[in-house]
Amino acid sequence: MSAEEASALQHKAEEQMQETELSKEPNEKESQPSSDTAAASPEADEDAFTYRSLVLCGYGGYDKVKLQVMQGMPVPKKGEVMIRVKACGLNFADLVARQGLYERLPPPPITLGMECAGVVEAVGEGVTGRKVGDKVFAVNAYGLWQEVVLTGAQYTFTMPEGISFEEAAAFPVNYMTAYLLLFKFANLQPHQSVLVHMAAGGVGTAVTQLCKLVEGVTLFGTASASKHEAIRQGGVTHPIEYQSYVDDIRKISPKGLDIVLDPLGGSDVQQGFDLLKPMGRLVTYGFANALTGPKKNRMALAKMWYNEFSIKAMALMQSNKVVCGFHLGYLYKEREVFEEVVGKLLELYKQGKIKPRVDSVHHFEQVGDAMRRMQERLNIGKVILLPEPNKEEESKDEAKKEAELKEDTAKDEEPEKEDN
Ligand SMILES: NC(=O)c1ccc[n+]([C@@H]2O[C@H](COP(=O)([O-])OP(=O)(O)OC[C@H]3O[C@@H](n4cnc5c(N)ncnc54)[C@H](OP(=O)(O)O)[C@@H]3O)[C@@H](O)[C@H]2O)c1
Repeated sequence: MSAEEASALQHKAEEQMQETELSKEPNEKESQPSSDTAAASPEADEDAFTYRSLVLCGYGGYDKVKLQVMQGMPVPKKGEVMIRVKACGLNFADLVARQGLYERLPPPPITLGMECAGVVEAVGEGVTGRKVGDKVFAVNAYGLWQEVVLTGAQYTFTMPEGISFEEAAAFPVNYMTAYLLLFKFANLQPHQSVLVHMAAGGVGTAVTQLCKLVEGVTLFGTASASKHEAIRQGGVTHPIEYQSYVDDIRKISPKGLDIVLDPLGGSDVQQGFDLLKPMGRLVTYGFANALTGPKKNRMALAKMWYNEFSIKAMALMQSNKVVCGFHLGYLYKEREVFEEVVGKLLELYKQGKIKPRVDSVHHFEQVGDAMRRMQERLNIGKVILLPEPNKEEESKDEAKKEAELKEDTAKDEEPEKEDN
């Protein structure tokens, strides 16, 4: 599905959207039509169909992503499938989007979410490769943090045997990005040296696993000090701190590096370029430095743009270095690239050579906690969201209500104290 089609779909859904409180369930009248009506009209059933969706309602802090209940059965159009979503991936880009800094998205309200995994529940006309009951994962520009989604069948991929929904939801964006960065842009060869920033995160973990498949690669990775042991065990040769990475790398590798993968932006791009050996390759693919907290920081943005890397063609030629940029969001129309890359990655998964690392799992109700975990630099691997209601919280609420009711009843039954 193109971004334009996704937008049209999204707007249709938005017309049907009903905002609720986080814990509020659709009222019974909406979700359960009387048996008379249901028997009399299947349309009534379709109208009463509800599903949960995480909607970006404005730009700002964690509270801008709200759990809403949509009404009306989504019907797949030609070439589309409807997926019952079981798990979704959280990406750094979702934090960027919440702050209004992701230029690929239409303005709020929109359902966020670039990846999900689930079960095909209906297929539209002309869909040949997918059938009801297939377990798939899907990738799109947005719109996938929803209990049920409609998406073009060509943006879905069959889940391999043995993979969980959580792992499958952690797969597409991180691994496609890592694969394209290393093998299509940076042309990684045996015995080369690589620096990846944010090495403990989703993309960083995937880059680490893929580097291990190439003989003799030396991998430098920046991460918070508390994560260094974990990433060393994962395969990073030299875990290093952000504050001193240039000096630390020069001490170990005085001639510099073959490849620098930069998701930070700002002055780090220039530092990465300077760290390259002749014939080295720099790939820039993010601007994490723009995010310093839950809300937009204009100073950080200004600093980043002020320090933006720039080079004249003549200077680039004389440097004997490669500089390139990568953005998955602008590759969605390159269907054959997706096919090829996902095909290769699934093969590696089946051979046991790569495996998504899930950091933590949060229900839709806890989307703020999930985003905070990433923003506060706590995750090692992928943060996952689950559309299904949080039963534990629900039963706690029930128990609390029951206890309150008992207390009220006991108070009512207490004999009134007589005054002397
Ligand atoms: N161009 C593309 O198509 C594309 C696709 C996917 C991802 N990306 C980029 O790749 C990077 C990694 O993405 P991801 O989704 O895998 O996220 P992630 O790495 O899991 O992001 C969270 C981690 O990043 C580190 N970090 C570094 N600077 C940060 C900052 N300013 N604020 C918060 N955390 C920061 C933190 O760990 P430590 O501080 O411990 O390192 C944090 O735990 C992001 O910049 C993202 O935009 C680009």
